[in-house]
Amino acid sequence: MNSKNQKIKIVADAEAMGRAAAETLVKHISESLQTRDVYSIALSGGSTPRRLYRLLAGDSELRGKIPWKRVHFFWGDERHVPPDHPDSNYHMAFEAMLCRVPIPPANIHRMRAEDPDADQAAEDYARGIRRFFDIASGEIPRFNCVLLGMGSDGHTASLFPGSPALGEQKRLAVANWVEKFQSYRITLTVPVFNNADLILFLVSGKQKADALKAVLEGDWAPDRYPAQRIQPKHGSMLWFLDRPVSKRLDAHQRGLQLD
Ligand code: 6PG
Repeated sequence: MNSKNQKIKIVADAEAMGRAAAETLVKHISESLQTRDVYSIALSGGSTPRRLYRLLAGDSELRGKIPWKRVHFFWGDERHVPPDHPDSNYHMAFEAMLCRVPIPPANIHRMRAEDPDADQAAEDYARGIRRFFDIASGEIPRFNCVLLGMGSDGHTASLFPGSPALGEQKRLAVANWVEKFQSYRITLTVPVFNNADLILFLVSGKQKADALKAVLEGDWAPDRYPAQRIQPKHGSMLWFLDRPVSKRLDAHQRGLQLD
């Protein structure tokens, strides 16, 4: 793994992770907005980032540092459910953060996962991304930041082991059939994630320690461990890990800088 643009930050627990990630993100937003008008971020779903989202909206110091009207929120992936469904990643981020901050509705770019045709929803999302970034078909957008989590099976976003979307190199977003859930997910693809200025992985919990060791220190097995496919093309990547998930890592082998 190339460690010059990848770092690991090990924190005590999920609370500390939320705080560390929030501070990193707020700093990156303010630095990025020195040289551009707007900041684009693709949010991750699941449960881990909820603390981060609540902090960004609820901590007055952090919240006050974010020029919300200049930040555009996208999603890295979505379940194939309506936006008010308890499983919706949009729903989680909206409740934890977006409904509590002064953000224009036009800055919230959710995946229309209520569309019964998941392929159509993915294509519509990709069209919206191209419009926002003013790019032509075939070009890859450069998000300022993408947030990612990882499952205990080594998946990230909705890129699950052995799933059809893993090798997608052209489309920006796809509907990905997930066998174990017997359902579609809508997900951005690896080239989009890898093109971001900043990739923040947030991974916590001892149940993920084996998968994390395999991803960071194991042999190259990108179909079995899709999170290995996430390699920043020209930006940087920061792993926020809590102690329980990182207990099996051997830092000396990796050459990654430990904070
Ligand atoms: C999702 C996420 C997914 C998530 C991991 C970790 O839609 O569920 O995008 O990739 O990040 O499954 O989920 P937890 O944070 O709940 O462990």
